[in-house]
Amino acid sequence: MTTNNEFGISAIGLAIPSYGLPLQELAKIRNTDATKFIDGLGCEVMALCNSAENVVTLALKAVQRALDNWGGKLEDIGLVVAATESSIDMSRPLSSWVMQELNLKGNIRSYEVKHACYGGTVALRQALEWKISGNSKNKVALVVAADVALYAQDHSGEPTQGAGAVAFIIGEPNIASINPISYYWSESQYDFWRPVGDKYPEVNGRLSLTCYINAMLNCFTQIAPKHELQNYLQEYNYICCHVPFPKMVHKAFAKLGQFCNIDPLFVESLYLQRVYATMDWNRKIGNSYTASLWFAVANALTKMQGQQQLLAFSYGSGCGAEILTLKCVANQQVATWVRQLEQDLTQRTIIDAAHYLEIRKSYDSSL
Ligand code: COA
Repeated sequence: MTTNNEFGISAIGLAIPSYGLPLQELAKIRNTDATKFIDGLGCEVMALCNSAENVVTLALKAVQRALDNWGGKLEDIGLVVAATESSIDMSRPLSSWVMQELNLKGNIRSYEVKHACYGGTVALRQALEWKISGNSKNKVALVVAADVALYAQDHSGEPTQGAGAVAFIIGEPNIASINPISYYWSESQYDFWRPVGDKYPEVNGRLSLTCYINAMLNCFTQIAPKHELQNYLQEYNYICCHVPFPKMVHKAFAKLGQFCNIDPLFVESLYLQRVYATMDWNRKIGNSYTASLWFAVANALTKMQGQQQLLAFSYGSGCGAEILTLKCVANQQVATWVRQLEQDLTQRTIIDAAHYLEIRKSYDSSL
């Protein structure tokens, strides 16, 4: 039962697939110097699905964990929103697989959201706004962002592949509260797209970098005038960003500093302490599209104390962007959901280049 108008994250569930491919292994078969992937892009290991895993199984795993960690009753769920850009059906929403698995039915709104990597943020905002509207009738929302990011073999995007899912129960802010005020920006762009029927996306990598930076400048300069941004940013213990690959975040953050005339040394130290630090899991998972920002946010929450704040910058190609701010309620360092992910990372099977080529055959032939 909600007692005031403050809502946020009540529970978290994270999931990654069973395989991890170190970028050194990919470099071997792509005739590339591994330092390009590791230093040039900032990637370490990409998460990959085994033959029994896909976007649905990842979403279900994250959802089940969020529910177990929450401990509430299924009857208290009034909204199920799933965000993905790797949906396996053009009509049936990913949320229907979640409903099916949980045997949920009744007075529940259920749907899927698509806006490239921004979709997870839209889903979460819609859940928050549904709570604020009063139309939730004191029920909670189950939100899941899940994706499997794959490109055609030898595509320039291949080193930025990855997969994962993040699920949230949105209701009482037991873990973090979400500020109802956010800062959004969008324009029509063709930086990343997947035509109907195509297995893998196309990306204009250079354009997506420009669009990401432009969106970042337009969002951050809404929250404070350029000359005040430096002070404003220091109010946030962590600044989490959508992570297509970690180097992109570094480049964009440096451009933001330049645009606002902030001392580059200050920008670099802020980046290392408050941005880079949140990408521990992203470096080991790769791009998980809609879930990518939320892995960074979850990671930041493990490092924060009650009352500390974080800023989350979401970007999705096409393109749309939004900044959300969250306030930590309780430190999460030893929370079950953290242990679950750390265990997955330790226990997953690290595969080599030959194994990768083998599993690519089955991905590519399931066209
Ligand atoms: N050692 C260290 N760094 C190296 C290197 C080496 N041996 N060789 C190259 N590099 C650096 C390059 O200088 C470059 O860094 P810079 O941009 O700071 O100059 C970086 O590695 C990448 O090299 P580049 O030649 O630009 O790579 P690419 O053209 O093969 O592809 C992307 C890189 C990012 C364009 C591509 O991976 C991509 O499109 N990824 C998907 C992006 C995405 O998801 N966009 C949509 C969502 S925002």
